Amino acid sequence: TIDAVAELVEQQDAACLLKGRDRFSHKGNYGHALLLAGNKGKMGAAILAAKACLRSGVGLLTTCVPDDGLPIIQTAVSEAMTIVREAGLPDIHAYSAIAAGPGLGLSTKEKDLLFNLLQQNNKPMVLDADALTILSQHTEKLTSIPPGSLFTPHPKEFDRLFGTSEDTLERYRKAIQLSAQYHFIIILKGHRTLVAAHGRAWFNTTGNVGMAKGGSGDVLTGILTALLAQGYDPLHAAILGVYLHGLAGDIALKQQSVESLLPSDLIESLGNAFNRLK
Ligand code: APR
Ligand code: MG
Repeated sequence: TIDAVAELVEQQDAACLLKGRDRFSHKGNYGHALLLAGNKGKMGAAILAAKACLRSGVGLLTTCVPDDGLPIIQTAVSEAMTIVREAGLPDIHAYSAIAAGPGLGLSTKEKDLLFNLLQQNNKPMVLDADALTILSQHTEKLTSIPPGSLFTPHPKEFDRLFGTSEDTLERYRKAIQLSAQYHFIIILKGHRTLVAAHGRAWFNTTGNVGMAKGGSGDVLTGILTALLAQGYDPLHAAILGVYLHGLAGDIALKQQSVESLLPSDLIESLGNAFNRLK
């Protein structure tokens, strides 16, 4: 059963995973992330993911958005560079980690871009939201996902990808089973997010119901992308990223209520969350 393969992630476990920073280091030591996100009416998802990525230690971030999204993200996120999707896929080897999905859209253009990316990329990447929805319509592409990639479905996205489950427990079991079968890591999001990898599982212990709002997932994608870009082992990035995301939510809740808490508050609390693990 699940008990035999699962463990809880507590603060000291997360703290052990956090890497220190050499005082002589420079931005080149912390990776360059590429974020394929945002589309008309969904630029907020790209902005949240970008800001969370920048607040999680990445050296450089480039966002890749549609033409008309460029002024929006450039205005909202000063620290990020931006390229446009109309120019096609950039040289992906220039990036240490790539994420795709938040607010990406589901049109043929985005589909082609994603499949093109999957064909060329062999480094662990983050796949979320619309990227998962596209994949659920083309499950034959699951075998071309780079090993160690992080899938971040909420239950509905998980069911769309892998078929419906009776209840939460069955979905947990299925995620663990699938993680043994595929080479990617499944982060099944919810009140107690499950990280499933190599047939084993880790239950997160941070986070609260104030995070049950559109945009919280985009923040997680940004955090995970930053950790991958910095060279964290994918499983460590998953466990640590999910823990930090929930911890930021718990810290932010002290100044808010479960009603008023916003995903952008999580981003503002990431600094305190990192410091708690030191
Ligand atoms: N307790 C703790 N954490 C929670 C809770 C809860 N009760 N509810 C949600 N969360 C956390 C989840 O663990 C996850 O990390 O908030 C995040 C929510 O992520 P998503 O469900 O992906 O939500 P998000 O992408 O931000 O917004 C909804 O997803 O269904 C799609 O297209 C839809 O745009 C929409 C988007
Ligand atoms: Mg989501």
